[in-house]
Amino acid sequence: YTVNFVSTKTRFNRKQQNGKQNSHSINRLSITVSFLKYLNKDLYSMYNSNPDFSSVGVSEQKVDPSLNLFEEINRLKKEKNAIILAHYYQDADIQDIADFIGDSLGLSQQAASTPASMIVFAGVHFMAETAKILCPDKKVVLPDLRAGCSLADSCPPDRFAAFRKANPDHLVISYINCTAEIKAQTDIICTSSNAIQIVESLPKDQKIIFAPDKNLGRWVMQKTGRDMLLWDGSCMVHEIFSREKIQRLKIRHPEALILAHPECEESVLELADFIGSTTALLKYSQSSKSNTFIVATESGILHQMAKASPNKTFIPAPPNNQCACNDCPHMKLNTLEKVYLCMKNEIPEILLPEEIRIPAEKSIRRMLQISAELGL
Ligand code: 13P
Ligand code: SF4
Repeated sequence: YTVNFVSTKTRFNRKQQNGKQNSHSINRLSITVSFLKYLNKDLYSMYNSNPDFSSVGVSEQKVDPSLNLFEEINRLKKEKNAIILAHYYQDADIQDIADFIGDSLGLSQQAASTPASMIVFAGVHFMAETAKILCPDKKVVLPDLRAGCSLADSCPPDRFAAFRKANPDHLVISYINCTAEIKAQTDIICTSSNAIQIVESLPKDQKIIFAPDKNLGRWVMQKTGRDMLLWDGSCMVHEIFSREKIQRLKIRHPEALILAHPECEESVLELADFIGSTTALLKYSQSSKSNTFIVATESGILHQMAKASPNKTFIPAPPNNQCACNDCPHMKLNTLEKVYLCMKNEIPEILLPEEIRIPAEKSIRRMLQISAELGL
């Protein structure tokens, strides 16, 4: 099962990413295989004996189209004492059935404090992994195990270990959009909501490695005036926005304010009236006196923006291709049907070896502690 799944993921990555990143997926194959050996459970037979679980990490069971999935999911929530945590980039239907919708910081804070027995993570793999790192005794399920992240994949653990070794006097801050193996090699995790404050909480002469997002890292350097060693990673969704198309949109809507996520490239951030995490962009759109916004982040956030301010106009910033808006192909692998199936079947489940989970938890807890002290 695992070999099939990871080689499928490798093919999936190969379509979208460069050679360095493919080697990471292959590296994940060996990690996963040794991880299975480490676990004293026969996961191979567990998944193979389940006829509803395909070899690509997602339940392939057909869902009766006449089933009211909202009712069924709510029933399963009660029956299994489950909570659904959804990122703003999920489909509108998933956001509407979720118990909590948020950005990466809010989602990790919710995961850390929930009394639920099962966490259904409607997001991507590194997010569900973060929930499992914080809640080792809870069952954490992800609707589609193939929901990866180009940014997380741009930082292979072996290359990152060599980078750290070459800069031993540096403290490591990693954006939460990274794998558990990178979190285990990190001193403090951050998100786009708290990266500036976390960097500023360190002594001015502290040397810092910032990974994996070079765009967020460069923006934090500009905001804090600190120099940092940046890992060369980026998000395929945020680096594809077209500066020229945004400029043309602004000519057609001169009254619009441009909102951008710090994962965008510098040439796009230069155009922005406000830069922030998804939660910060949502709050800004609510409190701003402006009525029209061009939004340069994944288009899923527009659902909550329109719900919170039904009389305002939100225009998705166009990417550098034929599409009008910009979806994350990983986030959008999750569907309401898959949310229902993963709750019903309790797979795909996130599992982690303790030798990775324990150091990874330390770096996330440091972030949660600093954020709590700062009231974030
Ligand atoms: P935030 O949730 O921190 O805004 O990050 C956006 C993102 O790209 C998540 O994958
Ligand atoms: Fe990863 Fe970018 Fe998708 Fe977020 S939007 S999950 S950073 S690929």
